Amino acid sequence: MLKKALESILTSQESGELVSAFDQIGDIIIVRIPDSLLSKKKLIGETLLKNVKIVKSVFYQASPVEGDFRTRNLEILAGEDRTETEYKEFGCRFIVDVENAFFSPRLSTERERIANLIQDGEIMVNMFAGVGMFSIMAAKKKKCTVYSIDINPIASKLCKKNIELNKIAGKVVSINGDTSKIIEEQLQGKGDRTLMLLPERSDEFLESAIKTTKDGGIIHYYSHIHADKKSDAGKLSEKHYLEVTPVKSEILTSKIVRPVGPRYYQTVVDVKISK
Ligand SMILES: C[S@@+](CC[C@H](N)C(=O)[O-])C[C@H]1O[C@@H](n2cnc3c(N)ncnc32)[C@H](O)[C@@H]1O
Repeated sequence: MLKKALESILTSQESGELVSAFDQIGDIIIVRIPDSLLSKKKLIGETLLKNVKIVKSVFYQASPVEGDFRTRNLEILAGEDRTETEYKEFGCRFIVDVENAFFSPRLSTERERIANLIQDGEIMVNMFAGVGMFSIMAAKKKKCTVYSIDINPIASKLCKKNIELNKIAGKVVSINGDTSKIIEEQLQGKGDRTLMLLPERSDEFLESAIKTTKDGGIIHYYSHIHADKKSDAGKLSEKHYLEVTPVKSEILTSKIVRPVGPRYYQTVVDVKISK
């Protein structure tokens, strides 16, 4: 649909380059534009706004996702200069702010996988929860309690809003602050399951993840791995986890979550730990 929308202003090779660089989130489109097409960015924005139904704003992603909050700078190309929108996924509703709090529609398959793994009655600690996507989806699907921690005050505030929006007060608890400190002070030995979705810094926070997880509990350890052969990425991340973990661990599974660069993958290793 996006390719078709750009047919009148780009060659098919140019629009091919662009299509994998789009995200549509509610009524907002975010586009990453290669240097060769930067001179046409306004035209691209205006064309998308005119031709894609329901879209009210088109932004150009002017920086990579960066910093402690994992956010990005956006530049308005066409439409309303507003970065908050509503996004729906698997029957859940989320208010997201695409510039001021981390959000990626590309993790939806992983969110569904985690929600399906949870057993009724579980406690999950979501160490890097953002606006609560994983937490809320899990609590909507299963009878569980989720501690949903994030250091970005805007993310934690949106998480609270999303808890209300999805009518799951009491099942998800939004906590703002540094996850290591919160775990140390309030959540030691609490979790049947711990989610560590800050792949660039997993090793730094592994000790806290172990601290918050019960003996026999499960940690979902995310990382970024270079692999010449795509099929090796899962095994390489298992190997890395086993090299860095200080506790006895049974590997349950590993897989690629998504590609993040040439021969570079975001992976997850599910492990059962014994303390
Ligand atoms: C990659 S995002 C994941 C967000 C969420 N799990 C999702 O998929 O939407 C990582 C999140 O970790 C948060 N973060 C970074 N350092 C943190 C820390 N020390 N304690 C708590 N949260 C932190 C960032 O603000 C960001 O929202």
